[in-house]
Formats: sequence, C-alpha cells, structure tokens
Amino acid sequence: MDAPTVLARLRAGTPPGEAALQWFARGLASGVVSDAQAGAFAMGVCLSGLTDAETAALTLAMRDTGRVLDWDLPGPVLDKHSTGGLGDATSLVVAPVLAALGCYAPFLSGRGLGHTGGTLDKLEALEGLRTDVSEARLRAIVADVGCAVVGAGGDIAPADRRLYAIRDETATVDSPGLITASILCKKLAGGAEALILDVKGGSGAFMKTRAEAESLARALVAAAQAAGCRARALITDMNQPLGPSVGNAVELADVLEVLRAPRPESRLCALSLALAGELLALAGRHSDAKSGARAALEVLQSGAAAEKFGAMVQALGGPARLLDDPARHLPRAPVCLPVAAAVAGHVAAIDGVALGQVVARLGGGRLRADDVIDPRVGLTGVASLGTAVAPGDPLAVIHAARDSDAEAALETVRAAIQIGGPGAGPPLVHGRIP
Ligand code: URA
Repeated sequence: MDAPTVLARLRAGTPPGEAALQWFARGLASGVVSDAQAGAFAMGVCLSGLTDAETAALTLAMRDTGRVLDWDLPGPVLDKHSTGGLGDATSLVVAPVLAALGCYAPFLSGRGLGHTGGTLDKLEALEGLRTDVSEARLRAIVADVGCAVVGAGGDIAPADRRLYAIRDETATVDSPGLITASILCKKLAGGAEALILDVKGGSGAFMKTRAEAESLARALVAAAQAAGCRARALITDMNQPLGPSVGNAVELADVLEVLRAPRPESRLCALSLALAGELLALAGRHSDAKSGARAALEVLQSGAAAEKFGAMVQALGGPARLLDDPARHLPRAPVCLPVAAAVAGHVAAIDGVALGQVVARLGGGRLRADDVIDPRVGLTGVASLGTAVAPGDPLAVIHAARDSDAEAALETVRAAIQIGGPGAGPPLVHGRIP
C-alpha cells in the first residue's frame, strides 16, 4: 500500500477499504504520509464520506497508533465525552459520582476548543493542581480514589493529533467520519468498558441542528460499539449555557455548589444525573437510567461524591480541604460588571458562540494554542431562556482582569442575550441513541 493508491481511490469515489485506512493511520503517526498527502486524504474523505465499517476501522487504527490503557480493577471502568458547549462542567460532577458508587472513572479530558470550554482548564483554576500526570500516577489515583480527570498525554492517538492540525488548516474538520474517528480514537484509548456520549445541538454547539447532532451521535455510537465498547448517546440542548456561568473558576464554583448542595432542577445537576444514570445502566449496575440517576442523586446528597472530588483534587496537587471553604481557594477577578437588560421582555435567544468568544477574549479561553489562560475571568448569572426581565435587570455579570476588558465585552454580551416574547426554554435532553 502507498499514499497515492489510497488517494486515487478517494479521488475516484471508490470506497478506500479498511486496509487502506489502517495503512493511512499508521502512516500519519510514523511520518511516512506527508502533510500534502494527509490534506488530500482529509479532503477526499470529506467529499466521499466513509461507511460505518470504514469509520470504525479508521477509529481503531488511529487509536492503535498510541498508548491504549487497560485496567484490572474491582469495578467497571466508565467514561463520558461531550462534543462541547458552554457552561458544561458535567464531567467534574459525573466522575466523583461514579467513584462514590464503586465504579472507576479515568476521564482523559481536553482543553478549551474554539468558543467552548475545556474540563482541564476548569480544574486547573485551583492553585497547585496539575492534570498532566504520568500513567503510573493516573493508575494510582484511579485505584485509590476511583476517579481522575486528567490530560490525555502526548502518546495517546498521535495520528489524530497530526491529522486534526491538518484538518484545521484545510477546512476539513467538518466530516462526520473524521470527527467520529478523531473523538473516539482518543476515548477508546482510555480503556473504558462503557461510554456515554453527550452530543450537543444548538446555537452554542458545533452541531447547530438536532438532525446534525443525531447523525453524529449515531456514527459515534456505531463506531464505539464496533470497537467492543458499550455506548449510548444523549442528544442534549446547547441553545443556552448549561450552567449559569461560563469560564474556568466560575464554572468550578458551580460544580462545587452541585457537589455541596445539589438542586436536581438546575440544568448542570440534572444533566450530570442523567449522564451518570445512563452510564450506570450501561455498566449493568442499575436496571435502567432512572434508577441509576436516583443512586447518583443519593451520593450527591450524602456528600460521598463531594468527598471523592476533594480526594481527587488533593491527589492532583490541589488544596487539601477544598470542600470546606471553596471560596477561599477559587481565584476571583478584580472587576465585576453587571450587564443590564435594555428593554422589558423574556430571554428569547442566546448566541452561545458570541458568549464563548467574549470569555476567550477576556482571557478565559485560547485564541491561539499556546495562549495562557486567566482562570478568574468569565460570566456568571447568565439569564436562562424564558426568564422575564425588566429594564435594568441583570442578564449576566462580566468578570474581568481590567475595567477596559469588561467595558469592551459589555455590548457583545447584551447583544448575545436577546430579549423577545415569552416562551418556555427548550428541553434539556432531546433524545437518546440507541
Ligand atoms: N473534537 C475532536 O477531538 N475531534 C474532532 O474532530 C472534533 C471535535
């Protein structure tokens, strides 16, 4: 096999076949495939698509270009993945909940991408906490605490790292087959036996419509199952931030509130319970997702999940008694500027991409891969869809490092939260696959 043969098949619209895709994945990691060939490959796949079997073959071949973890623990090893959104810190609730229920949750997580936040950046808002741990340390924390939310490390799926960078430069990110293989090769390398996928659709998600989200969810579940991992996807709403805050320390504060005083009616808590419930059912620990979610709520209410979170934070180098007095450990921005509604009405639409970009410009996200994040900045109290407001009522509060940064963000935030007629907010979960 060689690259021109694979590329000629793609150009002719002939299915490349599983062996060719496996060869290409290995060539990406070894360097046998050049950047030009990788770009042509990504464009060819974008234009002609992949069958389910080809997507699964590419996923596994990309997974196998790097380290693949295996586990021997006295309980099920479970994982979750979100396709990305705003105010979405559910991993930081789900991981300790699973640990408190006797499961193991080694969550290899990511950093912020585009306008969306990253779990590792949120956790690293705590002074001293490092998520780039060795495999030996990861194994020790998972065995001891039950959960570890850490970085994937450079040796996980190196073929994806190379192809992703080239897709970014060649306008070929947007291919269902390539997105599926890219997401799953990293997740499957974590070695979980069951995986819940939170596939987001809406204004603040990469998939803008429910149909797009459903189609990605089907592809992800099919490829994960073909790889021998029990998988299910929830299609969830991202027409507004999931939690009331968007940023790093501010979202961590929301997580700590769920862990210390859970309110199942809050969207962050409700989705965390739903995802944990599905995973517990997938793993056979509960007969169905509802009973799994009830068990998850119990360990939140008893404080057992909070204890696991505190132990994980300490094991990763963070403060020892975080849960006793979280405010003491969370960095705070020096400037807080409320954004007031200009007119009366109801919150009718939220431009999630605009809000995410505001947070990134305040310093809470990366405009370039090597940008250093300011964990303190972001938005809190973002009014949810359907909320009635009078002129002057707060729509959100901007947290900034400087007055001038907050002033610069003010009108964008106001414009991103549109006021209109009354209407109920969308449901949190639109569907489940399968
Ligand atoms: N996240 C990934 O890891 N890969 C993609 O292709 C898209 C989102």
